[in-house]
Amino acid sequence: MYAIAFVTGADRGLGLALCTGLLERGWRVFAGQYMPGWPELGDLARTYPEALRIVPLDVGAIDSARAAAQSVTSQVDHVDLLINNAGVTSPSNRYSIRESQDYTEMHRIYDINSLGPLRVVEAFLPLLDRSQLKRLCFVSSEAGSIARSQRAAWYGYCMSKAALNMGIKIMFNHLRPEGYTFRVYHPGWVRSYMSGKKNTEADLEPEEAAACALPFFIEARADEDRLELVDYLGETWPW
Ligand SMILES: NC(=O)c1ccc[n+]([C@@H]2O[C@H](COP(=O)([O-])OP(=O)(O)OC[C@H]3O[C@@H](n4cnc5c(N)ncnc54)[C@H](OP(=O)(O)O)[C@@H]3O)[C@@H](O)[C@H]2O)c1
Repeated sequence: MYAIAFVTGADRGLGLALCTGLLERGWRVFAGQYMPGWPELGDLARTYPEALRIVPLDVGAIDSARAAAQSVTSQVDHVDLLINNAGVTSPSNRYSIRESQDYTEMHRIYDINSLGPLRVVEAFLPLLDRSQLKRLCFVSSEAGSIARSQRAAWYGYCMSKAALNMGIKIMFNHLRPEGYTFRVYHPGWVRSYMSGKKNTEADLEPEEAAACALPFFIEARADEDRLELVDYLGETWPW
């Protein structure tokens, strides 16, 4: 029997690499597709025709999250591992407070990065409730750490990840007593597409980042009652 995972933002970057790594480990994977015109997820589905299913998903819309959960429900009776990976940033992050902020973009970033995972968890809880594992994973960021913040700009992205972290803590308070387990993660600086094109200056290829992330997401931890933001080197970050 396969273990079953759902990954959001699976078209490219870290999400695609996480799907690939799970499939290589024998998982059955449902991949949330946001960019139907982007070819790599389709290529992966041809390599794993039985184990990978592509599911349309815009984490910015609750109807889309519910339709994705409904599609998965029509194929399997539970999901073991939900990886909330989808995320966005914006070039307008660079403005300091002495410049005009782009509030429209800030709303969009908050809507996707902070509220998106809430929509997905809400929609998928009935599937996760039927799992033995009940594992909720969140790709957050060092950018959400208030204690270590040193940037003098990047309001939209940093605030969205700090808000995500608070949302996760509230979910943890509620769902940990029901047997849920949580992973909050900073993947490192990844050569992904957050700026619109592949960032070749970053430290890690998505495949390297996924190889660091997957053991943390999949394996048991000594203390599941402690919620921690952990990075790709295994270091725990202060909130
Ligand atoms: N890259 C880094 O250095 C870094 C560092 C720390 C944390 N992270 C986090 O890592 C996660 C993965 O990002 P990545 O680096 O792999 O970036 P990426 O290559 O841009 O991948 C993110 C994927 O999510 C998709 N997406 C955007 N809006 C969506 C929506 N409304 N619904 C569903 N999917 C949506 C993106 O599509 P579009 O390309 O069309 O937007 C893209 O396919 C994000 O949560 C990010 O904040 C990244």
